[in-house]
Amino acid sequence: MAARYQITGSSSAALSASVETGIRSGALAPGEALPAVRALAAELSVSPATVAKAYQELRQRGLIATAGRRGTRVRPRPPVATRRAALMPPPLPGARDLSSGQPDSRLLPPLGPHLAALAAELGPPTGYAATTMLPDLAEAARTRFTADGVPAGEITVTGGALDGIERLLAAHLRPGDAVAVEDPGWANLLDLVAALGLRAIGVPVDDDGPTEPGVRAALAAGARALVITSRAQNPTGAAISADRATALRTLLAGRADLLLIEDDHAAELARVPLHPLAGATPTWAFVRSVSKPYGPDLRLAVLAGDEATVARVAGRARVGAGWVSTVLQRLVLALWRDPATADLVRRAGESYEGRRAGLVDALAARGLTAHGRTGINVWVPVPDETVAVTALRDAGWSVAPGTLNRIAAAPGVRITVSTLDEADLAPFADAVAQAVRPGLPAGYTA
Ligand SMILES: Cc1ncc(COP(=O)(O)O)c(C=O)c1O
Repeated sequence: MAARYQITGSSSAALSASVETGIRSGALAPGEALPAVRALAAELSVSPATVAKAYQELRQRGLIATAGRRGTRVRPRPPVATRRAALMPPPLPGARDLSSGQPDSRLLPPLGPHLAALAAELGPPTGYAATTMLPDLAEAARTRFTADGVPAGEITVTGGALDGIERLLAAHLRPGDAVAVEDPGWANLLDLVAALGLRAIGVPVDDDGPTEPGVRAALAAGARALVITSRAQNPTGAAISADRATALRTLLAGRADLLLIEDDHAAELARVPLHPLAGATPTWAFVRSVSKPYGPDLRLAVLAGDEATVARVAGRARVGAGWVSTVLQRLVLALWRDPATADLVRRAGESYEGRRAGLVDALAARGLTAHGRTGINVWVPVPDETVAVTALRDAGWSVAPGTLNRIAAAPGVRITVSTLDEADLAPFADAVAQAVRPGLPAGYTA
């Protein structure tokens, strides 16, 4: 067994610095348990209050999390640069990876031809950009938003969805404020909320989106912001239905104290209509990333919102990163304008739909309930995530434990179907059935 990392220090600042060093060096791995407050205090001959203060500081910075009986642990993705190896799960020789949450790279539009065309028209090198967003990109985004019923008077551009959400939350909230997020929800968002020193309040999700009683309870508990996913919710695949949108719009109507953020990351890939809440509250933002349909490496999202909210996001960019490279903005515009790319994105959406439905049906035939109305993930409730993930791993399949996505939601595993082929369905569904109900004979169908 590896020797335990020795936390040192006699003040809370020294203790938290020691834990941070452990995380940065990889000696304290993501998910690793830290000693209980009293035990560490006794070991270091300091008061429990000193250790508690150090843990509190680390928690507020999103480096560690305390989860009831599971004790205090290093967060799965602590916001300090770590040696890469510390973040990687142990290698699984020969296993199929269905844990990534990534689109199939074979279904992303090739950038080469568009970059070549761009090279021919770029002209002299650009210096510091005069505006945050190219007017042509703003116009094209406005047309797309308007077609989907999103009121897009004000628009800006960010370095992806999470960058936009970070700036929105940082501009409106202060450390300690509460943010309502879907539960289960997007792991990166939970990490961001922790890193900003905000408190996450989980809102239960069903196939039609965040539940109305869940949002109501989060508001009653003091949430200052609500972040919801329009379609392809990660990890459950939920999409906000027309009825749910109406109910939530009614509930939120006129709430001047709430920042409403909608994340439509599946965008052109989604094969269900958008039912936006945009404009239901005076303070709102609608964020649409290009990561899933066009490629995560483009690092770009467009953001619509009320005038003050958009001005805050764009203004914060000006005093920080400045702007999103106009090369990337032009590239996205070229992709949006290209009919062949639109066709490719449509076919990618169809392909994911087929794979998702194939898996949900194959699991249903084995008596298992799975969720996955839209997007690239299927969520399977399981009695015990560790048992299920380990059994699947032993059978040669790597899936993501839902613990990364959950606050108080019931356990589950997330299966990314983007590379799951027709021929995989039966053996994989058998393996899932075995992993979830280990007593059943292989090949059993209900
Ligand atoms: C719910 C959700 N929103 C947004 C994104 C994309 O984020 P970004 O634009 O920062 O790449 C993802 C990617 O996995 C996601 O799952």
